[in-house]
Amino acid sequence: MDRANEQNPPKPEERDNTPTSKLQDGAKAGEQETDKPRRREFIHIAAANFASVGIVASFWPILASLYPAADVIAEGTITVDLGPIEPGQRITVEWRRKPVFIHHRMPEEIARARSVPLLSLPDPQVDRDRVQRDEWLVVVGVCTHLGCVPKGQLAREPRGDYGGWFCPCHGSQYDTSGRVRRGPAPINLEVPPYRFMSETEIRLG
Ligand code: FES
Repeated sequence: MDRANEQNPPKPEERDNTPTSKLQDGAKAGEQETDKPRRREFIHIAAANFASVGIVASFWPILASLYPAADVIAEGTITVDLGPIEPGQRITVEWRRKPVFIHHRMPEEIARARSVPLLSLPDPQVDRDRVQRDEWLVVVGVCTHLGCVPKGQLAREPRGDYGGWFCPCHGSQYDTSGRVRRGPAPINLEVPPYRFMSETEIRLG
């Protein structure tokens, strides 16, 4: 700054107004302007990340339920050794928190199940379609009326008029194929998914 300007500094309206000066001012302003969007972008990105974390956290129970724990997977499939089950004997195993009845049928029980006129059944189903091997009946032991566990697994329990199972809650009766024959139950006992792994072993699930 020369001496004259030191003594008489230019008034605001006399400041350098050349195009070059405007350009420089504009550049500074531009720096400030470009700085603001960056901050905004950062805030938006941070907010989006927090939102993502929040969404994942809120959906975690659902996501976790889609990938069941190892013990749940193990429960979903069980292997049953049929070897020790004597002809005429019935056993109960737990599968997916439900009782499953396995009945080693005697020839007369099979014959009885197959002598029934199909049209007399409330839920007509051929016995052969409910078993994979004639002597083995596998059904879910839950009454199809309101979910009680029917009696008949033990020899001393009532088995109803058809030699299968008797539901003590409202009197439904099932035959030796697990088909409903009397009472309010609307459909037969469910046959769960299973397959024979060998002559004496089945896998449920
Ligand atoms: S629950 Fe079995 S008859 Fe009602």
